[in-house]
Amino acid sequence: TSITPNAVAAVSEARQWDRLMQMARLGAFRGGDGSEGVNRACLTPLDREARRLLIGWGQAIGLTPSIDALGNLFLRSEGTVPGLAPVLAGSHMDSQPAGGRFDGIWGVLAALEAVQALHEAGVSLARPIEVVAWTNEEGGRFAPGCMGSMAYAGHSAADSWDAVTDSHGVSFGEALREHLAKEADLPRRPLGGAPHAYVEAHIEQGPQLEAAGLDIGIVTGIQGSRWFLVELLGASAHAGTAPVSMRRDAVQDMVRAITALNALMADPTDVLRFTVAKIEVEPNSSNSVAERVRFTIDFRHPDAAVLTARGDAIEATIRGAVRHCDVTVTERFHALPVEFHPAVTGAVERAAAAQGLKAVRMPSGAFHDAQFMVPLCPSGMIFIPSYRGISHNPAEYSSPEQLVRGARVLAQVLAELARD
Ligand code: GLV
Ligand code: MN
Ligand code: MN
Ligand code: MN
Repeated sequence: TSITPNAVAAVSEARQWDRLMQMARLGAFRGGDGSEGVNRACLTPLDREARRLLIGWGQAIGLTPSIDALGNLFLRSEGTVPGLAPVLAGSHMDSQPAGGRFDGIWGVLAALEAVQALHEAGVSLARPIEVVAWTNEEGGRFAPGCMGSMAYAGHSAADSWDAVTDSHGVSFGEALREHLAKEADLPRRPLGGAPHAYVEAHIEQGPQLEAAGLDIGIVTGIQGSRWFLVELLGASAHAGTAPVSMRRDAVQDMVRAITALNALMADPTDVLRFTVAKIEVEPNSSNSVAERVRFTIDFRHPDAAVLTARGDAIEATIRGAVRHCDVTVTERFHALPVEFHPAVTGAVERAAAAQGLKAVRMPSGAFHDAQFMVPLCPSGMIFIPSYRGISHNPAEYSSPEQLVRGARVLAQVLAELARD
């Protein structure tokens, strides 16, 4: 529409950056400004504080908050035509345990900024727009990630993760009930819905856009992911007295298992992603043979056939490799590769072109809540450059200028999608 340029101009670089920096203080390492790292785990008091801050900013511009059974938070801006399905835009507010200032939170604040700019420019849109913050995208405190969006989309039942515990033994079910009780003053909405479209702005978290000197990634789809938890149970023994031949050493079996998995996951094309990065050892004492080891597997591939074949071979590979331990393998997350909808990728491409920004079509290596919205409605994502591609790391950085370009594209995309 002819008024969109005013809305694009109303997107404020300073306001968006200021809000990002306020959010970065919630969970900042050593009480700093977040540039040394942020730890804002889902459903903690810090997460609640961040949500409260967001709700306050939303209410100040006339948005109506509501919350569903998974704690997903929505801030609604009404449309002019009653009864039309809303356009949803957002991301997540939880962080990695040693995360940065931008992963997730920027997508929520960009959506708020875009809606505020549309209001300030007096753009009237037929459809409602809802800013959404999904619960537990990272999966750092409670595995897996994307619980809020998976439950919303009906990919998983709402009670699927009630018994999942964090490292202190608190269950997701308990943490969620406590959270909902503390947020009881917010209007409750039914879980799920049938949005008109979903758009998520996110930092790239990879090196491509920066290296090529580009402003915007038009995200074409997301590769598939599978998460497994492996438990090896042996027996503890005295490190000085127990003959090696008599041990049932869980760490030695873990080494055998990971070595065999590395062979299973070998990929000369370097497309496959295989990661073991969280290991718990009991009793975790240097002079006691390890009785129990738990380790995680994060396996990703863009081709569903490879994801299925190699993922399904994981358990047998581990069983074939270990010598002494009892083995338990549990799959905790299974997200197939998705392709985004041309209605959204096209809108992102048009907006970037209209704003004179340099854009490229690219797939996402990270998973996102948008993945689970694909079966529900036309969905897509907007990427902006990440400094040196660093993410899931305190050094994660995107400049205020890069971030505002992304929010401007989002504003124009939302105007197009919510127009009729
Ligand atoms: C998201 O945090 C991912 O691990 O891809
Ligand atoms: Mn994220
Ligand atoms: Mn992340
Ligand atoms: Mn439409």
